[in-house]
Amino acid sequence: MPADLSPADKAKYAAAKRAVEFIEDGMRVGLGTGSTAAWMVRLLGKRVREEGLRITGVPTSSRTAKQAREEGITVVSLDEAGWLDLTIDGTDEFDPDLNLIKGGGGAHLQEKIVAAASDQMIVIADTAKDVPQLGAFPLPVEVIPFGLKATKALVEETLVPLDVAGRKVTLRMNGDAPFVTDEGNHILDLHLGRIGNPSRLSLVLNQVPGVVENGLFIDLCSRVIIGHIDGSAEIRK
Ligand code: 5RP
Repeated sequence: MPADLSPADKAKYAAAKRAVEFIEDGMRVGLGTGSTAAWMVRLLGKRVREEGLRITGVPTSSRTAKQAREEGITVVSLDEAGWLDLTIDGTDEFDPDLNLIKGGGGAHLQEKIVAAASDQMIVIADTAKDVPQLGAFPLPVEVIPFGLKATKALVEETLVPLDVAGRKVTLRMNGDAPFVTDEGNHILDLHLGRIGNPSRLSLVLNQVPGVVENGLFIDLCSRVIIGHIDGSAEIRK
């Protein structure tokens, strides 16, 4: 482990290090986005350079694509790869059923498409992401720019009959302008506090016209690797 890491980075590093051990020669691998996934890409690059590991990486964001290329990882699009053996990605929250909230970095659309096109998804996390119930982290919902106000109003209305603790919806900003995703869309953050039924919420949100994809990952993750600051990692599945 590199010296001078913060406690949070020590845990992220530990999870990422254990996760890259699942990658075998010849695999097609989905590469997640975020600070934990960035450790994974770095450690995978090290294996590619030092062990001659031949893998094909499919990045889930322009940020990850840039980093992967700099690490010497062969990068292709998901269409070029076809189907993936494995995706490794971070998360904002995971619950006891390994359902997730993702999209804190604004990349959940590509992340979900890539995870769904993989034989398995391994999530890497520190203990702060381990929650008994999803919802304390605001749920990201990617929406197209056209009719943004109408879409936001419909999302707010959709939440009314649902089992959630809060219903505040905010437009994610980047300085003075709305945040723009890799697909040219915006993000609504749903401050729900607690999500009683994540599957139902995910289904109803995606029925709102203007919504592209929400950040709930239901039944997509096969195992979570939780890193600890002492360098150890535990696997939950
Ligand atoms: C990006 C994501 C990230 O995986 C998630 O936000 C976790 O990021 P980090 O590892 O930096 O805590 O979903 O869209």
